[in-house]
Amino acid sequence: MSEAKGFHHIPVLRDEVLSALQPVPGGVYLDGTVGGGGHAAALLDAVHGEAKLYALDRDQDALTAAGKRLAPWSGAVTLRHGNFHDAMDIYPGLLFDGILLDLGVSSWQLDAAERGFSYHEDAPLDMRMDQSSGITAAEWLNTTDEKTITQALYDYADERWAARIAKLIVEMRAETPFATTQDLVRAVDRAIPKAVRRKDEGHPARRTFQAVRIAVNDELPPLKQALEDLVLMLKPGGRLCVITFHSIEDRAVKQAFAKMKNPCECPVNAPICVCGKKPLVSLPKGYPKAPGEAELQANFRARSAKLRCAQRLQDE
Ligand SMILES: C[S@@+](CC[C@H](N)C(=O)[O-])C[C@H]1O[C@@H](n2cnc3c(N)ncnc32)[C@H](O)[C@@H]1O
Repeated sequence: MSEAKGFHHIPVLRDEVLSALQPVPGGVYLDGTVGGGGHAAALLDAVHGEAKLYALDRDQDALTAAGKRLAPWSGAVTLRHGNFHDAMDIYPGLLFDGILLDLGVSSWQLDAAERGFSYHEDAPLDMRMDQSSGITAAEWLNTTDEKTITQALYDYADERWAARIAKLIVEMRAETPFATTQDLVRAVDRAIPKAVRRKDEGHPARRTFQAVRIAVNDELPPLKQALEDLVLMLKPGGRLCVITFHSIEDRAVKQAFAKMKNPCECPVNAPICVCGKKPLVSLPKGYPKAPGEAELQANFRARSAKLRCAQRLQDE
C-alpha cells in the first residue's frame, strides 16, 4: 500500500476537536499524528485555509495520504516524517495556538493486512508505525524475555492471562520463531482457556495485539515527557488536545495533565511552596469528551475514544 491506496479513516470527535482548538484565521497549529489528514482538513476548512498547519506522522504512507487530502491548502501545510515525541527538534522555535494528538493507529493501518496490526488477517507480524526503523513485532516476540513480555501484556493491555500467554510464546518460539499474525493468534488461543472467554471482551487476541503494538512502537513510556514538551510549544492560552482509544492511554494523559496543572512536590502540610514548580496549564471544564450517539452509530471505531484538553496558562 505504499501509494496509500484507498486510505480510509473517519476523523473521530471532529466537531469536539474543533470546538476545543477554536481555530482562528492567522493561527499556527500542529497536528502531531496527521494520519490521513481528516482532522487537519477540518481545521483548515474551518479557517478557509487562513492558518499555518505543521504536521507529523511516523508512517510514511499516512503522510502520502495526508499530502493528497491536504492538497487544496498545500501553501498552508508543512508535513514531516517523524515522531511527535521529537516535535521540539523537528519544528524548533515554533509556538502554536493549538496542538492535536489523535493517538494510536488509523483504521487504514488496521485494515492494511500487510502491516500486521490485525488479528483478523494472516500477514507478516510487523506492527511498526514507522517501517523505516525499529524491530518488527515478530522480532520483539522472538527475542524478548518472558518476564518483559508478561509485564507488557499487563501494563499495556490489562491482560489477566499475561503470564500464560508469555510462557506459551516462549515455548512456541523455541520450536518455530514467530513470523505471522496468526502465529500470535494461535499462541493466545492456546493460552486462554475457552471456558473462561467472555463474548463482551471481543476477540481473545485483541489485548495481546494492543500490548505488542504499544511495546514495538514504544508508545507509552515517553508519552508523559512528550506531552510536557508539547505544552512548552504552545503560546500562552494555546491548547493541547489529545484523543485516546483505551483506558491505559487515557490514564497516562489524564495523569500527565494533572501533574502539569499541579506540579508542586512540597509536602501537603508545608506552609509555603519551596519546590518552585509552577502550574503550566489549566484544564478547561467539560473534558474528557466522548462521542455522541450519532457518531457511535456512524463509526464503530469511535466507541472507546476520549478527548482531553489542557490550556497553557497566560502567565506562569
Ligand atoms: C488515529 S490516526 C490519526 C488520524 C487523523 N487524525 C485523521 O483524521 O486522519 C493516528 C496516526 O498517528 C500516527 N502516530 C501514532 N503515534 C505517533 C507518534 N508517536 N508520532 C507520530 N505519529 C504517530 C499513526 O501512524 C497514525 O497515522
